[in-house]
Amino acid sequence: MKRPERIAAAAFSVAIAAALALFVAYVQGSGPQAEGVLLALALGGVGVGLLVWATRLMPHIRDETQPRKKTTPATEADRESAVETVEAGVDEIKRRRFLSRLLVGAAGALGLAALIPIRSLGRSPGDSLFRTKWTSGARLVTSDGTPVTSSTLEIGSFITVFPEGHEGSSDSQAVLIRVAPDQLQLPPERGAGAPDGLVAYSKICTHAGCPLGLYLAATHELRCPCHQSTFDVLDSARPVYGPAPRPLPQLPIEIDGAGGLRATGDFTDPVGPSFWEEA
Ligand code: FES
Repeated sequence: MKRPERIAAAAFSVAIAAALALFVAYVQGSGPQAEGVLLALALGGVGVGLLVWATRLMPHIRDETQPRKKTTPATEADRESAVETVEAGVDEIKRRRFLSRLLVGAAGALGLAALIPIRSLGRSPGDSLFRTKWTSGARLVTSDGTPVTSSTLEIGSFITVFPEGHEGSSDSQAVLIRVAPDQLQLPPERGAGAPDGLVAYSKICTHAGCPLGLYLAATHELRCPCHQSTFDVLDSARPVYGPAPRPLPQLPIEIDGAGGLRATGDFTDPVGPSFWEEA
């Protein structure tokens, strides 16, 4: 075996060993430093092996990065020479079966190691991105867990509410606003979810997800502090200004027998930015 052949074989062998060690390191959770070193060894071994093989063992091939000396069309002799060069290269690869097998082994070991990071992506979120903690019968409470009743709010005021047991849940937070019942212009199928002028919407802006912080009682508008999207509370929280592309999802609520407020289901639409519409 020629010396370049030994070097290439050694480089591919190092790549195989490093890739297999990388697989084990991923499984055992050895940490990013060890994994980085092993990955560098595996890729470096393949690179060095290919470099030595191409430059020291393959038939000489003209450097295509250098300008051609003549611009005349290739002659028959040139074409025959090119074909011979390619055939010689193919023969060289076939002849060095040992190196070829080592190269395939290195590629396979790297492929095996690459399977583990795919697992690191975690479990599929399923439809959890489209649901919140609100369920039918969930009691509306404030951030400190105080139950909200139909008399908590005066007309023109608002508070932030959460489902009981999930106070502080970022995707479940909602704004509860009280307006004069005859001012609401909700579609019939949504009107029942806003009893006595109490209407609740997701507090997460549908533009980029900022929490809404300002209620303009005089104009019945909710405004986002980030880019000033403004939503018409009386008209299903339709955006009337700014970059928000769609209304705030409504939380349907009811007044129970004791005067407490409860949800009758989850929000009417997924909360937050409309990522699923762009997917
Ligand atoms: S996040 Fe609300 S307007 Fe941009």
